Parts: sequence; structure tokens; C-alpha cells
Amino acid sequence: MIKNDYIPFSSKILEVIQHTDIEYTFRMEYQGDVKPGQFFEVSIPKYGEAPISVSGIGKNHIDLTIRRVGRVTTEVFERYVGDSLLLRGPYGNGFNLSDYIGKDLIIMAGGTGLSPVRGVIDYFFHHPEQRGHMTLISGFKTPNDILFRSDLKQWSANMDVILTVDYAEEDTPYHVGLVTQYIPQIQLGNVTNTAAIVVGPPAMMRFSVQGLLGIGLPEENIWISQERKMCCGLGKCGHCKVGDTYICLDGPVFNYTKGKFLVD
Ligand SMILES: Cc1cc2nc3c(=O)[nH]c(=O)nc-3n(C[C@H](O)[C@H](O)[C@H](O)COP(=O)(O)OP(=O)(O)OC[C@H]3O[C@@H](n4cnc5c(N)ncnc54)[C@H](O)[C@@H]3O)c2cc1C
Ligand code: FES
Repeated sequence: MIKNDYIPFSSKILEVIQHTDIEYTFRMEYQGDVKPGQFFEVSIPKYGEAPISVSGIGKNHIDLTIRRVGRVTTEVFERYVGDSLLLRGPYGNGFNLSDYIGKDLIIMAGGTGLSPVRGVIDYFFHHPEQRGHMTLISGFKTPNDILFRSDLKQWSANMDVILTVDYAEEDTPYHVGLVTQYIPQIQLGNVTNTAAIVVGPPAMMRFSVQGLLGIGLPEENIWISQERKMCCGLGKCGHCKVGDTYICLDGPVFNYTKGKFLVD
């Protein structure tokens, strides 16, 4: 029988975890191969489709952390545990854990950029013997915007976690300032054996990569994940195309040697 990749499947909502007023994680029933950094097209009939990154992977589920911004995402927020959503995917290349094994690791995440890398961080949190020193710099606008609070606390048990906010009251327990301000605090070893992942809004990615290059990381040791407006998600419609690159198919994860030509 011919398989039609456009046809979605129904997936039940197992749990809803609220992070902020407009960001919830929907734990969805799912069995199958999937990698951190890949994404699903989430759809609701009559409302449309939205690409959403996988923010967590379990034996019988995936997590989708969704910000309510418009038509489809607002309708998703009307769904509760036991309801179903339609999903297509997983799409995209995702992160290859083998690129990072045995290396010192630096992860820089801006806002919801923490979602697509959460699976990578979690893997190396549970397998510290497979990597060297690890630093996570995670930035949010204000303390109210912080996602995955309990994960951030847990991860700090065996890696350096620098949690920073752009704005806060004077007595805040968090670091204050942009993620790039904390690059000098990274405990740097041999740069040729250090890999970095940068995910977030375009300006944050641009300045973070500049900062990492500035402390000596080679371009080929840096990976980024790109978010572009997408439609089909599987290399057919051309919506996401930059030059001859299909972000949905060749990405969204790119080594910076290629990704630098795609950064806004
Ligand atoms: C590969 C990929 C992974 C993504 N992962 C996540 C995720 O994990 N969680 C999450 O909340 N969102 C994610 N997004 C963004 C998400 O797809 C959009 O927010 C969603 O499509 C908006 O749909 P809507 O119908 O609710 O909003 P619309 O009614 O379509 O639009 C509302 C507003 O959002 C803007 N918008 C729409 N689509 C995008 C987009 N792709 N990028 C930036 N702005 C957009 C519109 O211009 C408009 O200003 C991802 C996007 C891509 C391409
Ligand atoms: S979204 Fe259609 S080709 Fe990439």
C-alpha cells in the first residue's frame, strides 16, 4: 500500500503541563522513532496546522511545548487531557547525539529555544560519562517567562546551568542580562574538543555564535536550529526554502558551516 505522508494520525493528550500563561507542554501519546530537534505538524480541522518541535521523548509519548500565538495554537489550548490532536511527522533531521559524544558541551538557548534542545540536555544529564564538561546558558525575558523550571534545577546537579533573565526586580535569584554576557563564565577546555548548540530567536543566535567564535570555537563545532515559516514540512511545497536548502528537510538543525548562510 502507498503511504501518504500528508495524512495525519490522531494522538491523545496524556498530560498538560503549564509553564507560563501562554506556554504549555502537551504530553502526547506516541510510539515510534523520534529525535530531539525534529518537529511535528500539529493540526486541528478548520483551523490549520503548526510545526512544533519535540521537547521531550518518552517510551510511549512525546512532549510538545506550545506558545499560544494565533489561530491554531489558541485552539490547541482549548484541548484537555483525553482529547486528541492530529499530528504528522516526525519531520526534519534533528540533533545527532553522536556529534557531541566525548566532547565538552556548551548549549545556549533563548526563550522557547530550550524546547528543541531539551532532549539533548536531558540525554547528557543522564549520561554524563558520555561527555566532558557541560554548560547550559538559558535566557528568558523575565522570571515569569521561565520554562522547564524543575528541569533546570535538576540539570544543575551535574552541569553548569546559568539561568538568566533580561529584566527582573533587584532581589531576583536569577542572573540578569543577555545570554551572551555569560559566555566569559564558561569553563573552557580544549576548544577543538568542544561542541556548542545555539537555539533561539535570530538575533540571539547571531550574537551567541559570534561570542562563541570569539572565544575560539571553530565554526564546524557549532550547531544551530532554524525556525522558518513552513507548510508541508516534508520538502514538497518550497515554503521554507532558502537558496537550494529545504529547512524542513535538510534542517532545522544545521552545522554552522552551512547554517551561517541561512541565519537571518
Ligand atoms: C521547525 C519549527 C519548529 C517550531 N517549534 C515550535 C515549538 O516547539 N513551540 C511553539 O510554540 N512554536 C513553535 N514553532 C512556531 C509555530 O509553528 C508557530 O508559532 C505557529 O505555526 C503559529 O500558528 P498559529 O496558527 O497559532 O498562529 P498564526 O495565527 O498563524 O500566527 C500568529 C502569529 O505568529 C506568527 N507566526 C506564525 N508562524 C510562525 C513561525 N513558524 N515562526 C514565527 N512566527 C510565526 C505569525 O506571523 C503571527 O504574527 C515552530 C516553528 C517551526 C518552523
Ligand atoms: S515546508 Fe514545504 S518544502 Fe519545507
